[in-house]
Amino acid sequence: MGSISQAKVGLVTGGASGMGLDVVENLVSKGWNIAIADFDVTLGESVASRLGSQVLFVKTNVVNYDEQVTAFAATYKKWGRINFVFANAGIGGKGDFYAQEEEVEGTGGPPKPNTLVMDVCATGVIYSSYLALHFFRKNKEGGGYLVMTASAAGLYPSGQIPLYGMAKHGVVGLARSMAQHLKSANEPISVNCVCPGVVPTRLMPQAWLDAMPSDMITPTSTVVKAIDGFLADQSITGQAAECSGQEVIYRDPPPPGNDVAAFMLGGTWATKMDIKSLMDHTKVRNAYYDKMEEDLVQSGTYGH
Ligand SMILES: NC(=O)c1ccc[n+]([C@@H]2O[C@H](COP(=O)([O-])OP(=O)(O)OC[C@H]3O[C@@H](n4cnc5c(N)ncnc54)[C@H](O)[C@@H]3O)[C@@H](O)[C@H]2O)c1
Repeated sequence: MGSISQAKVGLVTGGASGMGLDVVENLVSKGWNIAIADFDVTLGESVASRLGSQVLFVKTNVVNYDEQVTAFAATYKKWGRINFVFANAGIGGKGDFYAQEEEVEGTGGPPKPNTLVMDVCATGVIYSSYLALHFFRKNKEGGGYLVMTASAAGLYPSGQIPLYGMAKHGVVGLARSMAQHLKSANEPISVNCVCPGVVPTRLMPQAWLDAMPSDMITPTSTVVKAIDGFLADQSITGQAAECSGQEVIYRDPPPPGNDVAAFMLGGTWATKMDIKSLMDHTKVRNAYYDKMEEDLVQSGTYGH
């Protein structure tokens, strides 16, 4: 009991700083072994050397699927299990989506908008969640806890940062959808997300923090409290935990708008589906999507 080999294991993306780091420190103090998958080598290495043998740092860009595989595989190899994944790495938006740009000569249109925030905050979370499922299923004891970092911008509109808002709404949708499916499949995997307000981390401009009364700022300890709550009870799943000030508030999805939506969500009709017709449709659609991917690869828009 309590020996390193019995200890629970977590993997935290973006764990070298901010709320990810506070979650790492909290779990390390409780005896967990934690892998930090972060792009910032200087911070990651210094955290790992400060916290000692319970922490493994793997330099990872979450947008790069192969690098995430390396981080997960190294964690599993070192400690033999992964019980908790915190898909937390994120950035603010880059560029001004609303700026009236000059048209690019010869194209008739403005330059391509920057979508890095979607790559990091949405695609990176997709890869982490997918790998979490894979490695949870490898655990001898079975199961695990997946938590993603969304944002208040995943619950409310955020006019100044629309692509960040889009990515974070997507994270809430991924968490709720995965939880619904895994629960109905009776898999012992919980999936939740945290939706913090303004938290004083490196991501936030100091000018923004200075402009706000201190009691309107959400401390990282509220996020740590939300994660502790998820880890304490695996029956909690599909929750979007708004972290506002000192409070953790579970936010339900909106109720169906009318009887048609209620019927669709009820899903009883699914048992009446003609499976062959469904498979035929999938085959035709997949052929079309293959063509689309090929076209994107050939035009250099798509890298794989
Ligand atoms: N600070 C806030 O007010 C706030 C509010 C709501 C949600 N969030 C979200 O919280 C999460 C953590 O951010 P934070 O506030 O602790 O900021 P932070 O900058 O202190 O920490 C983010 C960490 O993620 C890492 N990271 C960024 N891009 C990465 C990438 N491509 N690959 C790997 N690592 C990467 C950074 O190096 C950093 O260590 C983010 O998803 C952010 O969107 C922040």
